[in-house]
Amino acid sequence: MSSFTLKVVLSLIISTFTLMKLTRAGDPDILTDFISPLTGPIDANFFTYTGFRALVGPQNTSPPPFKVLKATMIEFPSLNGQSVSYASLQFQPKSINPPHTHPRSAELLLVIQGALQVGFVDTTNKLFTQNLQTGDIFVFPKGLVHFQHNVDEKIPALALSAFGSANAGTISLPNTLFNTSIDDNVLALAFKTDVSTVQNLKKGFA
Ligand SMILES: *[C@@H]1O[C@H](CO)[C@@H](O)[C@H](O)[C@H]1NC(C)=O
Repeated sequence: MSSFTLKVVLSLIISTFTLMKLTRAGDPDILTDFISPLTGPIDANFFTYTGFRALVGPQNTSPPPFKVLKATMIEFPSLNGQSVSYASLQFQPKSINPPHTHPRSAELLLVIQGALQVGFVDTTNKLFTQNLQTGDIFVFPKGLVHFQHNVDEKIPALALSAFGSANAGTISLPNTLFNTSIDDNVLALAFKTDVSTVQNLKKGFA
């Protein structure tokens, strides 16, 4: 085989594997149009979710610093098998969505109101950060640790995030590390600190 033919064959093999990887990047495909609940007939209501009306109605006068509303297959069962979901993120001034990851999907965030400082860290430990304005879109790649921060002192922020999974999952790093029963000594060694510092951090979650 000439070296040219070899190159063509190799690049064909590589692109085939890339395509296979691409087609396997989402939730498993289903063999029906949609997945109906076990009992009863369904109508358009099954495909409708009204939980986000809370975003346009009268707002809570003493809202929490940061609030998430989800429309995943948990809240909206017709998403099961459709590989899509939404979350709305409401930030009061100077609030954060702490560092977290979504194991099963990338996140496509659109800033609807206010401004957000966002960032993610890749697997080489490089930080990518950006200051987003109203109307901007940012993508957090699948599985990478990321955060959002409303740095403004007066204006709340609202963002809508789309996911390529019906159940992207969330792993919150502070909660995973300091609000589970991981041994204090393990955490002290991991963070190059002492046990009393670890216990102080754990107190914030009690
Ligand atoms: C800590 O974990 C408990 C049990 O899972 C949970 O109910 C609580 O909200 C967590 N605390 C914080 C601050 O996230």
